[in-house]
Amino acid sequence: MTTIPEAYQINKIIDQRKYLVNGELKTWEGKTTEVFSTISSTEAYKPTLLGSIPDMGEPEALDALDSAMKAFNRGQGVWPTMHVKDRIECMENFVRQMKTKREEIVKLLMWEIGKSLPDSQKEFDRTVDYINDTIEEYKDLDRNSAKFQKHDGVYAHIKRGPVGVVLCLGPYNYPLNETFALLIPAIIMGNTTIFKPAKHGVLLITPLLEAFQTSFPKGVVNILFGRGRAVAAPIMQTGKVDVLALIGNSKSANALQEQHPKSNRLRLVLGLEAKNPAIILPDADLDLTIDECIAGTLSFNGQRCTALKVIYVHEDIKGEFLKRYSKRVDDLKFGNPWEDGVKLTPLPEPGKPAYIQELIDDALEKGAKIKNKKGGQKFDNYIWPAVLYPVNKDMRVYQEEQFGPVVPVLSFSDIEEPLNDMAESNYGQQVSLFGKDVYALSPLIDSLVNLVCRVNLNSSCQRGPDVYPFTGRKDSAQATLSVHDALRSFSIRTFVAFKDNDLNNETIQQLLEAKLSNFVSTDYIL
Ligand code: G3H
Repeated sequence: MTTIPEAYQINKIIDQRKYLVNGELKTWEGKTTEVFSTISSTEAYKPTLLGSIPDMGEPEALDALDSAMKAFNRGQGVWPTMHVKDRIECMENFVRQMKTKREEIVKLLMWEIGKSLPDSQKEFDRTVDYINDTIEEYKDLDRNSAKFQKHDGVYAHIKRGPVGVVLCLGPYNYPLNETFALLIPAIIMGNTTIFKPAKHGVLLITPLLEAFQTSFPKGVVNILFGRGRAVAAPIMQTGKVDVLALIGNSKSANALQEQHPKSNRLRLVLGLEAKNPAIILPDADLDLTIDECIAGTLSFNGQRCTALKVIYVHEDIKGEFLKRYSKRVDDLKFGNPWEDGVKLTPLPEPGKPAYIQELIDDALEKGAKIKNKKGGQKFDNYIWPAVLYPVNKDMRVYQEEQFGPVVPVLSFSDIEEPLNDMAESNYGQQVSLFGKDVYALSPLIDSLVNLVCRVNLNSSCQRGPDVYPFTGRKDSAQATLSVHDALRSFSIRTFVAFKDNDLNNETIQQLLEAKLSNFVSTDYIL
């Protein structure tokens, strides 16, 4: 084990006792749960204690719900009725404060979820950019609606308004970025929110509690800690949540939706699992394909919903591909997140190496072989990615979203084989298609766009840039997220209409001149 640079050593345990409800940073006196990192601080392996978090339950959950409901106040609250430019000012204040916490949060990202230093920095910076872009996009949205239209003698002043109370739950692989990609648009559109951090990557939210408290009116953002089942389920059971925003797996999403007694009133914004395939055609440029497949399958150890989770390679080039790709997997550097050039890092879930081992054992039993020398090598907090070939549909590694370091490979001679598999799959997020011949590519592109929501040509699958739509078909997603789309997913079109007559025209004229209404306004926000 290399020594830990001083800046990244854990010298202070964070015993997080504060939580945010009704604008107050309350102190938790009840039970707590210890937070460990799977990264060792000592020569002999031992998980590192990072701190502890409150283990909250129903009373606190209902308190937070009550606070969010009061802040929305049936649409009459300060926040949902506030002028757009004032809401934007609150968000600008938040992002200003957030930027001062970069170092602390980046360090916690490394320890809590094992993300490499450059990727942790990227997650933080990408989130700040996301907030700034959201602010600009909202200004644009507002400017475009700062007008009246007239059809059939009826004027309309159409804007987007908040939906109500949003329950927001993010994933552990992007505990800052993906959670904020839900929370920030939900807040800025005038909703009030309850937010519970993911199971890993939770302490890193604590440096931001004060910024949330001081930037927004009370009750707009409520932050709870604890297990999803204990905290989120009682909130859903009340039927008072208007939007469930969740990035995670469909089991938790289904379980939570089912708790809501009035399903028609519940809007869903979900980013769920995927099994994105790479399809490698016989004329693919192998250098580029292998680079992209390495990034696609193993960035952050494959713990990305957009990761390439199964590779289909054409029979004609399978030998060459497997040989070169396997060598590249074995050449990757494993180490702690702050080590230079590190690509594979400790897995934050203590049970993950054993789970990946189960998938490997099952595949080997059913006829697959490990194609790389280091494949399956065990560490205290890691298991080396195994390149498995030939994989078939009976294997668990084919059926399950592995969300970790193991790469199933299948070969095909007829392109209908991967296409049929994709059509049968429960998932439909993205695909990577590698090849050059436009006569082979074009019919494929034309049908793949109808099976998934992003076809990546000679490129790995990914969510970014965040201005592009991020969504999926079937069990992979509900609603669309992007800087542009998220503002729409967390709002509803609502408008003031009036028949064209002297009384109405004069009233609206006065409303505009007096600048008394925050909704009826043609102000141009700079
Ligand atoms: O976990 C799923 C993320 O949305 C993936 O985002 O493609 O930017 O890593 P990414």
